Amino acid sequence: MTHVLVLNGPNLGRLGVREPEVYGSSSYDDLVAAAGEWGAELGLEVDVRQTDDESEIVGWLHEAVDSRSHVVINPAAFTHYSYALRDAAAQVTSAGLALVEVHLSNPAAREAFRRHSVVGPVATGTVAGFGFLSYRLALCAVATRTDA
Ligand code: DQA
Repeated sequence: MTHVLVLNGPNLGRLGVREPEVYGSSSYDDLVAAAGEWGAELGLEVDVRQTDDESEIVGWLHEAVDSRSHVVINPAAFTHYSYALRDAAAQVTSAGLALVEVHLSNPAAREAFRRHSVVGPVATGTVAGFGFLSYRLALCAVATRTDA
């Protein structure tokens, strides 16, 4: 079965509490449950994780390369400045694996500092602005690309 790591960066564990007008009222646990259901529908084995720690998410990207897992990633604020995460993401796509960058909100329509992603240029593609649906669309893209 095709394996997908769904990785979430800083503050995403606070979903439902954090700026619900921007990120919605559903919780991180709701996201984990929904992603698991969508993965099952698509024939993907989905492993959803969240961390506020840059080194941990970099380690998970290394793990994706070593275990031949595709990646759906919401790098959260790391999107905008983490060259360490960018370099780790580049290793995933260089290995021939899919890496889809996702965002709940549409960063292009928000503050200027959010309009630049250091991850986007090394991603397979980006889905942004659709709330939890961004993750579902990203999983569909992985399933279609890999014909899972
Ligand atoms: C986000 C957008 C980022 O700019 C922000 O730092 C986040 C969440 C999103 O999902 O819309 O934490 O990645």
